[in-house]
Amino acid sequence: MSERDARLPGFYKLDPEARRALLKARFGLSDDDLAVLDDGGALTTARADKMVENCVGVFGLPIGLGLNFRINGVDRVVPMVVEEPSVVAAVSNMARVVREGGGFTGDADPPLMIGQVQVLDVAEPDSAVRALEAARDRIIARANAVHPNMAARGAGAQDVEVRRIDAPWPMLVVHLIVDCADAMGANAINAMAEGIAPLVEELTGGRVRLRILSNLADRRRARARCAVPHAALAGPGWAGAEVARGIEEAWQFADACPYRAATHNKGVMNGIDAVAIATGNDWRAIEAGAHAYAARNGRYGSLTRWWNAGDTLHGEIELPMAVGTVGGSTNVHPTLRVLRKLLSVESAAELGVVIAAVGLAQNMAALRALATEGIQRGHMTLHARSVALAAGAEGSVVDEIAAELVRRGEVKLGVAEQLLAASRSGERAS
Ligand code: MEV
Repeated sequence: MSERDARLPGFYKLDPEARRALLKARFGLSDDDLAVLDDGGALTTARADKMVENCVGVFGLPIGLGLNFRINGVDRVVPMVVEEPSVVAAVSNMARVVREGGGFTGDADPPLMIGQVQVLDVAEPDSAVRALEAARDRIIARANAVHPNMAARGAGAQDVEVRRIDAPWPMLVVHLIVDCADAMGANAINAMAEGIAPLVEELTGGRVRLRILSNLADRRRARARCAVPHAALAGPGWAGAEVARGIEEAWQFADACPYRAATHNKGVMNGIDAVAIATGNDWRAIEAGAHAYAARNGRYGSLTRWWNAGDTLHGEIELPMAVGTVGGSTNVHPTLRVLRKLLSVESAAELGVVIAAVGLAQNMAALRALATEGIQRGHMTLHARSVALAAGAEGSVVDEIAAELVRRGEVKLGVAEQLLAASRSGERAS
């Protein structure tokens, strides 16, 4: 077992305290780090008050660990913040299966984002476009003057492109292409777009209205791939080849039908958003980019692709990945520092590949379940725990009541409350 081995057999059977102790030994977390992870109290109201307006408190969500990931030959334990039962278990199971085919591979584009400047009332669009193109270097220099440190590090504004929109209203749109290095980049891009606006008006004779980044970050895509031997997909009552065929057929459905594609991609985003939140990234930006990209061909489709060749199932995902490892809330929220230590990525590009791999694994888990026994059985087992908790169960009683709810086929709050009352009166009687 290597030092950062992402397989932690039996981890799920431990209680949270024992899990944290294991992280301390395996990933070099300190006692202070463990205290930050415990009970969600790391973000104080005082600090939260500096993050949003009208703050009245903080809101907790579970942190789970996606296990078994091997990505580009490196083991990763992936922090995920998510409220939905079964997401973390499903992704960890699929990462274990994919390991058998060697793990995930992936890559990411350079961190180029687009800032948009909308120009209206341009009397002579042809000459305005020529003027903008001729002034490319001046526009770039003006943008970089807004964030000189970025340019000094070899990042910052790199290029200018002009789009013409004719209908329903004529306008020019200046695209400022910005290398964001390891930042998501929203603030820098928006400031640059605002910074070049007066020059754009001078060059075009037009009137600038919006100056804002585009969340369709299609220059900054991340990709992940996997190849899984059919034998690794076999389950109770299911031959591996049949499961693989089911996954391919499920993908064909999503690829052909936007109604299915929306649900299919929602499953992908279950994993992606959870890692985005755990790493302090703007998951709404990633969602917007993902769905816009899924519709890039004029019809909304799947973010992933699955196919079989011989006795191997192949999967791939590609989507815009505007994430950062510096800046934003990453410096404000204390839990993020600890989770970053656990994940141990060196750059935004590396983080993007991890997130893409999690999205692919999450999709594989959903398709495998849907194409075989259906998702309700697995979901119900986990949902039963939430119902037991809602009924007021605590400690080991949660699992006992959850198991009984599933056994009866009645995962209902009222039944859980009755079971809990019976269990408590039994305790009092003994
Ligand atoms: C549920 O959160 C996600 C799924 O609906 C995804 C899918 O249908 O592919 C299971």
